[in-house]
Amino acid sequence: MIQHLVQYAYLVAAALFVLSLKWMNSPATARRGVFAGEVGMLLAIVGTLLVNDIVNYQWILVAFFLGTAIGVPLAYKMPITAVPQQTALSHACGALAAALVGTAEYYRHTADLHGFTMVALIVEMLLGFLTFTGSLMAAGKLQEVLPTRPITYRNQNLINLTLFAIALGIGVRLIVVPTDTYLFPFFVGLSLLFGVLLIIPIGGADMPTVIALLNSYAGLSACAMGFALNNKLLVIAGALDGSSGMILSIIMCKAMNRSFIDVLFGAFGQVQVAKDGAKEKRNVHSASPEEAAAILESASSVIIVTGYGLAVAQAQHKLRELFDILTRRGVDVKFAIHPVAGRMPGHMNVLLAEADIPYDRLYEMDDINSDFGQCDVALVIGANDVVNPGARKDKDSPIYGMPILDCDRARTVMVIKRSMSPGFAGIDNELFYMDKTLMLFGDAKEFISEIVKELPK
Ligand code: TAP
Repeated sequence: MIQHLVQYAYLVAAALFVLSLKWMNSPATARRGVFAGEVGMLLAIVGTLLVNDIVNYQWILVAFFLGTAIGVPLAYKMPITAVPQQTALSHACGALAAALVGTAEYYRHTADLHGFTMVALIVEMLLGFLTFTGSLMAAGKLQEVLPTRPITYRNQNLINLTLFAIALGIGVRLIVVPTDTYLFPFFVGLSLLFGVLLIIPIGGADMPTVIALLNSYAGLSACAMGFALNNKLLVIAGALDGSSGMILSIIMCKAMNRSFIDVLFGAFGQVQVAKDGAKEKRNVHSASPEEAAAILESASSVIIVTGYGLAVAQAQHKLRELFDILTRRGVDVKFAIHPVAGRMPGHMNVLLAEADIPYDRLYEMDDINSDFGQCDVALVIGANDVVNPGARKDKDSPIYGMPILDCDRARTVMVIKRSMSPGFAGIDNELFYMDKTLMLFGDAKEFISEIVKELPK
């Protein structure tokens, strides 16, 4: 009876995971998607706790309280700008858990392990251990506790491939002769080392894409664990996680004009170091909040482009006030969303949704780019690389080929940022020097507040 209940719980959980991913596709249904995922996970956990293989609950309770004590403060205290490294840490824990379960299974049943189960275990542990150290390295680079620059040396790819081939070779030997337990520590050590070596040549700049890929590896590891433990829910959940992480990395690579193959083989970021040559001092036009307010007041169409600076300044609620005032005055206000604006996928959608900006005012890059030519003002708030026209024509630029939002085609461009500092890619932006561009220097939240004060209510 209990076993049947467990299977039903798993079935409903699997359906909820699929629905969760579907609902998370749109900002309008994203909250429902998160809730469905949470309920699915609760059912999966409760179902697993009912399985009668569990010998005692004591250690499970200890792990439960320990995990909660670490996870809850992490979720509440982590600023939204640090979500990528938090995600990397979560992947590290998930992957380590999968790898340790595999290790326990290997040592518990060494003599009885046969072909397919052993293949699944080896795949699971290889991916699990390399994702563990790889994710820790990625989190360290993003948090800047490790050097963010790519660390490269001669024959790096050859050394990495050789190491991987040796780990794989030992894995194959263990599949054929599982009782060769003396080889197991070497297999684990090489997998852990490979995770470190895979990530060190990648610059901090490209780390969010790598995190999406590591997420995929962690999912695939869980999927393999499902086969090893004969647990169908793990197979489904792991496959969903693995494939969605992979799709996300491909989307991010496309949006940044990067080669997916390079990310896959850890060659990412090696050649993407921005030139830091002697910079000539160039003049820009700047404007005060009063002048900016006057321009916005007389505009009939405004496209707002947000970027990482909006998240740093936490200016989304002030921006909502500005949106309300302009809309009340009959101005047509739209928001243009670049797929890699900010530091994580959907970063801008999350911020704007937090401020309750209507979803139908948010436009994806491909849907809005043709509107810039007819709009009176493009108001850029804390965005830089995603509006850099250099990406179109400067072949030497590290962002060459990356699709951008065509702000430079608007009649007037206004850019809120604190200084002339470059953005993520570390390069100058031609947009700031154009005759039609006005630089609004200041913190985004403070500057928008000043504009709001100036506008008649
Ligand atoms: P960035 O190019 O990083 O520019 C952000 C700008 O915000 C900076 O120029 C900075 O200038 C300004 N800023 C920072 N704090 C501010 C504040 N408090 N108030 C006002 N402005 C502030 O951002 P972007 O245009 O969003 O581009 C994203 C970049 O990240 C791209 O290069 C993209 O490839 C990369 N990336 C994104 C992702 C994802 S998934 N989103 C993943 C990997 C890489 P000041 O310092 O002068 O203020």
